Amino acid sequence: MHHLLSAADLSREEALSIIDLAEEMSEVQTREVKKLPVLRGRTVVNLFFEDSTRTRSSFEIAGKWLSADVINVSAKGSSVSKGESLRDTVRTLSAMGVDALVIRHMASGAPAQAARWTQASVVNAGDGTHEHPTQSLLDAFTMRRHFRAVTGDPQADWTGRTVVIVGDVTHSRVARSNVLLLRTLGARVVLVAPPTQMPSGVDSWPCEATDDLDAALAEADVAMMLRVQKERMHGGYFPTAREYTVGYGLTRDRLAALRPDAAIFHPGPMNRGLEISPDAADAASSRVLDQVAAGVAVRMSVLYHLLGGGSTAPLGPTTTSAEADRKGPTA
Ligand code: NCD
Repeated sequence: MHHLLSAADLSREEALSIIDLAEEMSEVQTREVKKLPVLRGRTVVNLFFEDSTRTRSSFEIAGKWLSADVINVSAKGSSVSKGESLRDTVRTLSAMGVDALVIRHMASGAPAQAARWTQASVVNAGDGTHEHPTQSLLDAFTMRRHFRAVTGDPQADWTGRTVVIVGDVTHSRVARSNVLLLRTLGARVVLVAPPTQMPSGVDSWPCEATDDLDAALAEADVAMMLRVQKERMHGGYFPTAREYTVGYGLTRDRLAALRPDAAIFHPGPMNRGLEISPDAADAASSRVLDQVAAGVAVRMSVLYHLLGGGSTAPLGPTTTSAEADRKGPTA
């Protein structure tokens, strides 16, 4: 694996390998010294043309915990604001010898383009309304943990589970990547959106689609609420915020109607009171902060799969950076 551009590029084996290694990586999160020596001497550039809290900081933390050098470049404050093209920016950073470019861009397809201009590994950290593969991996990771916790079965996975993804599907790269990955992993995906926010080609996607939220939620093992993407909307997708909430929000009443084992997901940032009520966001069954925590472990695993040199056992007994220094570069 040299790039991660789309969830569709992942075979079941590759996806499982990333998710399983993320389980091991998550153990580092609980250590006092959160450092593994495996990407020493490697350089990761976060190139973000759109705003981000979770994705950018979790890639940065992930790289640092693996001992890579991590540099953040954002459109504001770089030569991008002077009109430099994506191609020139990518080629400039590549010429410095970076090993991975983590790219978020408002144009769908920008990371795939960038991959043609550089030898470095490219990770798609969200491109327009297209895809967000690492988000789908952290969602899948969090789901599997949830299924294992509620069943008590350490082998439980996505097979036969129903994941209901609700909201602004047209503009959602999170929905697209989740449909692709969850299909690979064996879950049933049901998309729920108002007719104006359901993409026209959805019939050819490997999932079901409906506008009946209450019927779909009755079957949900996971209810994933999507953010209403105001910044990508031009025109009237729904009459009023109130009407959206009544038809498609996870309200207090809908929260009460969920199956007892159902989990609530949201990729963040949440519009509390619009697509998700505060009661649902903060409910005991909300996995929103677990998703955030999983983001670091999954991105450590992704960076390791791309840059780690193929070995599948990065977690030796090494626990301290002093030990790491003695061991030297091991990647
Ligand atoms: C998502 C994104 O930016 O695509 N957020 C995220 O990465 N955590 C979802 C969103 O912005 O609605």
